[in-house]
Amino acid sequence: MITCHCNIITERDIEQTIVDLLDEDCWQLIVPVKLYHAMEKRGKCCRCFPNVIDIIIRTTEAYHARFDRQEVELLSYREKLYRMRNYYMGDFDEGQSQGYRAA
Ligand code: FES
Repeated sequence: MITCHCNIITERDIEQTIVDLLDEDCWQLIVPVKLYHAMEKRGKCCRCFPNVIDIIIRTTEAYHARFDRQEVELLSYREKLYRMRNYYMGDFDEGQSQGYRAA
């Protein structure tokens, strides 16, 4: 399934890149910009970022579930990711500047 229509990136491509990054450093914080940089792509409209963050959360949890991690470490990491997701979703304004009014 295509997740990023601007760059034609599939969910599978994103998941594989996340796993590759986690193999390098399993506790690094993966954000969409880092992920796109690793794929040699750029966010253009960035409307896919909330979905990309959901994929990051899901894939990272599955990655760490394969190992014997402490639940506290995972909860702390998950909280950071949800905060980041809410940050991106809260700033989503379809490109209009603040104070923009049609009439
Ligand atoms: S849909 Fe991903 S950058 Fe536009």
